[in-house]
Amino acid sequence: MTKQKNMLSTKISNALNKQIETEAFSSQYYLSMASWAETQGLNGVASFLYKHADEERMHMLKLIKFVNERGGHGIVSALKQPPSTFKSVKAVFEEILKHEIVVTSEINGLVEITLNGKDYTTHNFLQWYVSEQIEEEALARQIVDKLKLFGDDKSGLYFFDRDLEALAVKMAAKEAETNK
Ligand code: FEO
Repeated sequence: MTKQKNMLSTKISNALNKQIETEAFSSQYYLSMASWAETQGLNGVASFLYKHADEERMHMLKLIKFVNERGGHGIVSALKQPPSTFKSVKAVFEEILKHEIVVTSEINGLVEITLNGKDYTTHNFLQWYVSEQIEEEALARQIVDKLKLFGDDKSGLYFFDRDLEALAVKMAAKEAETNK
């Protein structure tokens, strides 16, 4: 078979497949956090996290489709089980921030691989993820800072939960607008 002109190299295809796994794990991780929050009666936090898990799945799908379009094969792999219980809401969001910082460095690593491999199409495709990571990290940081403000105060948590409910509605509206 002759190689298509704009086909992915094996190295870049493997690196993108690794990222598919990361995005899938992120989705499962946030889904597990959402389920835990729901059992704690924190419906706003749960809505936000369910939405976040959906977004990560969309990140994964976008990569699978891109890899397949470029003559590669997007692989759906087995995932390790995420934790199912969490110490507190603050601990959840600190974990998210930590996780997103790791994801950002992985995306940056991917960008570097595409530059070294002179694959400008994939480089261009990845810019969406670069911007997304800036937004995700900023949002997680903002939420962690907010949580630090009220510490263990229960009424603070009540209002925080309501805020996140509103944020989840906003995220859904933005997504609907993007998919129009
Ligand atoms: Fe898809 Fe939150 O990184």
